[in-house]
Amino acid sequence: MYKQGLYPITAKTASAKGIFDITVLCPEIAELASPGQFAQLLAPGYFLRRPISICGIDKTAGTIRMVFEVRGEGTEALSRLNVGDNIDIMAPLGHGFTKFEGKAVCVGGGIGVPPMLGIASLYGSDAAVITGFRNAAAVILQEDFKSAGCETILCTDDGSAGIHGFVTTALEEYLQSKKADIIYACGPTPMLRAVASTAEKYGVHCEVSLEQRMACGVGACLGCACKIMRDGREQFLHVCKDGPVFDAKEVRFDG
Ligand SMILES: Cc1cc2nc3c(=O)[nH]c(=O)nc-3n(C[C@H](O)[C@H](O)[C@H](O)COP(=O)(O)OP(=O)(O)OC[C@H]3O[C@@H](n4cnc5c(N)ncnc54)[C@H](O)[C@@H]3O)c2cc1C
Ligand code: FES
Repeated sequence: MYKQGLYPITAKTASAKGIFDITVLCPEIAELASPGQFAQLLAPGYFLRRPISICGIDKTAGTIRMVFEVRGEGTEALSRLNVGDNIDIMAPLGHGFTKFEGKAVCVGGGIGVPPMLGIASLYGSDAAVITGFRNAAAVILQEDFKSAGCETILCTDDGSAGIHGFVTTALEEYLQSKKADIIYACGPTPMLRAVASTAEKYGVHCEVSLEQRMACGVGACLGCACKIMRDGREQFLHVCKDGPVFDAKEVRFDG
């Protein structure tokens, strides 16, 4: 079940160059939302909505938080909205992460990091969060993960902050010495493919959040098909309705 309406932006900050962090007062959406789900945001002047992950949910305050990068015209128009402006939101959409007992490792790459905050916060000190960015200037959300009690392992491609290298190497090193019961991941497809294969190698269950171009966002247009192996056969499912979170073993990353 989702809601659609106009809701006021109550906070807005620039997290890094071209990356905006907004909080929206929408109690009926906050009440329904869970980590890993997403919102379809209508940018002023555009017909198609843009999918953005729900990064934080405060059911008491009735707010949701979203962090997005300006990629094209739609997100550029969204970035021009300010505190006090209303934003047209359809949410919560899709199938989010499953919470398990035990220790979690959350792996995020670039703008795939925000969806990790909600699920990592549910684990608190039982979560290690491995995040990767291009460089120090692109790093976001580290203080939020620390405030939630999570262990943080920061990687950058150029070594300008944290470990010089990729999250996939850091994940492998982590699993060599520490136990994990579940791995969650969101980021570029090559990263997800590598995380899925490392999880399989170490026998750890893994859920990945896929990002696919979308139109309707509710399973009506077939615009977001992805190849999934389920019930012993390959099938095309909707990232918007059946995902965006899938069991990594089911995803055919080549499809
Ligand atoms: C389930 C889901 C959750 C997402 N969560 C976030 C989030 O939390 N923060 C965030 O910044 N972005 C997120 N995205 C990506 C975001 O939806 C796109 O960046 C946005 O729709 C681009 O719109 P635009 O009009 O600005 O750009 P366009 O002009 O439409 O495209 C600009 C560039 O972005 C690429 N792009 C367009 N749509 C997508 C997409 N769906 N996924 C990846 N690349 C795309 C295009 O190929 C192009 O290179 C998410 C996408 C999905 C499907
Ligand atoms: S975006 Fe329309 S079916 Fe998924």
